[in-house]
Amino acid sequence: MRRVDALREGIAADKASGDLSGLLAQLVDCAGAHFAWEEKLMRSAGYPGLSDHRAEHAKLLEQVQLLHQDLAAKGANPREGLSLFVKAWAEHHTATSDRRLAEYLKKLRQGPAKAN
Ligand SMILES: [Fe+2]
Repeated sequence: MRRVDALREGIAADKASGDLSGLLAQLVDCAGAHFAWEEKLMRSAGYPGLSDHRAEHAKLLEQVQLLHQDLAAKGANPREGLSLFVKAWAEHHTATSDRRLAEYLKKLRQGPAKAN
């Protein structure tokens, strides 16, 4: 989220579109690397929700890539799109899909439930 904050600050400071484009490119890379790491973790853990979770990652990544492309090609201000992206990632995906994954991994680490 540091990159999101840096980007928000850049937008607020009305930085040149080249600067914002660089910040957005970093956010694309960061999000892509984070999602790839999570997907590797899901595969290695045999997570049953991998397919749906990966599809959400792909949508999120596409969303931020489009912001970057629109800025680079048309000089479109990414403020509103960034807000929607952060909401979709931080407030929705993290709170639902990532939480389900964390619960699955926690149960996996605890091992099978013991019978009474
Ligand atoms: Fe995720």
